[in-house]
Amino acid sequence: MNDKNQKVIGVLTSGGDAPGMNAAIRAVVRSGIKKGMQVLGIRRGYNGLMNGDASEMNIRSVSNVLHRGGTMLLSARCMEFKTEEGQMQAVGVCKELGIDGLVIIGGDGSFRGARALSLKGVPCIGIPGTIDNDIACTDYTIGFDTALNTAVEAIDRLRDTSESHDRCSVIEVMGHGAGHLALYASVACGGTSCWVNEIGFDVDRDVIGKMKNSLRTGKHNFIIIVSEGITDVHALARYIEENTGVESRATVLGHIQRGGSPTARDRIIASQMGCYAVDLLEQGIGNRVIIQKNSQIIDYDILEALTMKKGLDENLLEVHNIINI
Ligand code: ADP
Ligand code: F6P
Repeated sequence: MNDKNQKVIGVLTSGGDAPGMNAAIRAVVRSGIKKGMQVLGIRRGYNGLMNGDASEMNIRSVSNVLHRGGTMLLSARCMEFKTEEGQMQAVGVCKELGIDGLVIIGGDGSFRGARALSLKGVPCIGIPGTIDNDIACTDYTIGFDTALNTAVEAIDRLRDTSESHDRCSVIEVMGHGAGHLALYASVACGGTSCWVNEIGFDVDRDVIGKMKNSLRTGKHNFIIIVSEGITDVHALARYIEENTGVESRATVLGHIQRGGSPTARDRIIASQMGCYAVDLLEQGIGNRVIIQKNSQIIDYDILEALTMKKGLDENLLEVHNIINI
């Protein structure tokens, strides 16, 4: 039992998991305990919050997790929590457990939940954790670097075999409608074309036309990157083969991109953000999201954060189109 003056905070991970979430949890737990707080780990996101699935963590509960992918607290998508009743149930659980504040590690859906709880009297701080890097207010989301490096490694392997057979490899990368992962991977791996939602794209001009030009300059193997959800990459591979004569294969990288040991970058940013979140809760501040802007870790109002729109990096797109030929 904690004494009445001791602050109690909870930490949970929600939505799609991302490498580096464990580093953020570790930072929250250790910095909270160092500040004299009691820290509760809540399992399976808002689902666990609604059902009181929480237990006290100590400094050793988070030993040996820094290098592990996934989330030790497990994650979930919880439809009931989107309802008023679901949120009131969670508020009731917070009261029962004596929770003074929560750290919510997830994407913008999870931040909507964090805002709802903050407005209902439970101060929440969001930490951006998603491989998509699609949260507008922040330059960076935890997990992006690891997922990008995983995608790059896989695409390099596909290049080896495509090159050996004079083939075209059409590769779908994740992104949940956002093209950041696709564009970064395409720049890093020399994709001839990169098809993302954010830009106007014409398959005949931007894939077939480009490939034909490259064939004329002596190129025989191709990497075509497609952001998830845009088109059926298997059908696109057939279309490419029919229209260029280059034998083509399609690969969906899928959830491979979500797992694995986080990169140093993800571990470090997650650690900084975790400590920052606890600092805010210590001051009784809620309804904020921790972000990285121009290499600085700062905080932002959740609602404002959620109304912002994030475009693709125009400069990177230009670089891509100049050199990937
Ligand atoms: P992410 O956080 O990665 O964007 P989701 O969009 O799936 O992932 O959201 C994760 C969870 O956040 C949902 O399952 C739900 O419990 C909660 N959530 C999403 N949108 C809202 C909302 N509008 N209001 C309250 N909670 C929400
Ligand atoms: O948001 C992370 C992400 O991996 C997206 O890139 C992808 O669209 C989605 O989650 C897949 O979600 P699920 O785990 O439900 O398959």
